[in-house]
Amino acid sequence: MEYKVREEVKKLSKYVAGKPISEVKREYGIDRVVKLASNENPLGTSEKVKKLIVELVSEMNMYPDASSYDFKEALSKKLNVTRDMIFCGAGSDSLINVICEVFLDKGDESIMAEITFPRYESNTILMGATPVKIPLKNNGLDIEAMVSAITDNTKVIWFCNPNNPTGGIFTKTEFDKVIGRIPKNVIIVMDEAYGEYVTSKDFPNSLELLKEYPNMIILKTLSKAYGLASLRFGYGIAKEEIVDYLNRVINSFDVNLFAQRAALVAIEDDDFIINVKEYNAREREVLYKSFKEMGLEYIHSEANFIMVNVNGDDKPIHEYLLRSGYIIRPGYLLDMPGWIRVSLGTKEQNIEFCDLLKKAIENRDK
Ligand SMILES: Cc1ncc(COP(=O)(O)O)c(C=O)c1O
Repeated sequence: MEYKVREEVKKLSKYVAGKPISEVKREYGIDRVVKLASNENPLGTSEKVKKLIVELVSEMNMYPDASSYDFKEALSKKLNVTRDMIFCGAGSDSLINVICEVFLDKGDESIMAEITFPRYESNTILMGATPVKIPLKNNGLDIEAMVSAITDNTKVIWFCNPNNPTGGIFTKTEFDKVIGRIPKNVIIVMDEAYGEYVTSKDFPNSLELLKEYPNMIILKTLSKAYGLASLRFGYGIAKEEIVDYLNRVINSFDVNLFAQRAALVAIEDDDFIINVKEYNAREREVLYKSFKEMGLEYIHSEANFIMVNVNGDDKPIHEYLLRSGYIIRPGYLLDMPGWIRVSLGTKEQNIEFCDLLKKAIENRDK
């Protein structure tokens, strides 16, 4: 029997995730591999979460709470929102998908930066809608042009802040100038996957904005600063009516027992996050200094990764680093040829990475 694949699926290209450590070990026959490619937390996970996970093993035979009640209760108190304003999923990745399923139809448009997190585009295409991609300006989101691109067909506009892969932010001052022009029937997604790392004092306060803009959805993840990437836990905040629609589509048991209970403990461990943020800000400076010494341009980052211009072809740099046991994101896979994106690692890894980068460039240019 002939099977039929939807045309929208045929249009999708496969998402190329950061290479897993095991694959690089296998391919290059090396034992020690460091991954600085997926913006994971080099400091690991809160000790409180680790302890809890061990205790939960005896409950594995039971389905998790489909509503993640305890997590929502704790977060609602922390953020002063109602429980019904919170929705949870298996990573914010899955929630991006759900937002598209709820709001996008054939003929609709969703607006995003040309270089940003690729799941906005792929999930838009999957729904038969059209991604409208707006070029970056000064290596950051051109929020003015994004808002100006809104038409009657626009249903969703995606703001990734800080932007992945460029790492910078648009400020509150800049956002205040344009947000009022977004019609109330357009869903504004504020993807703040890296929000915990931001040190700028002028970062938009999306929770405050939500009070004035009920068409806003804020997305967060525990994969980055909280160090829980493998557990798959993302959440969002929006007005109750929107959350109610999203919850109709989110798979009931997407958030497993470990993820929801770990998330509950993780969001209460403020000391862990303060330490992560301080460490990250210090190491960003260390890397900036090394890049300056090497004469390399970089994009100022408010996240836990930095885009660096490698002054030429990034493919041989990527290859050299892989052979040396370091996985980074080459720019040619991110539509930024000539650049690489490196996630911040441990102090030792950052030093070793810079040494290797220098050698990789020398090797390419000799
Ligand atoms: C901007 C952005 N949003 C969302 C995600 C998805 O994260 P997760 O599905 O792990 O929550 C990522 C992951 O890299 C990201 O960079």
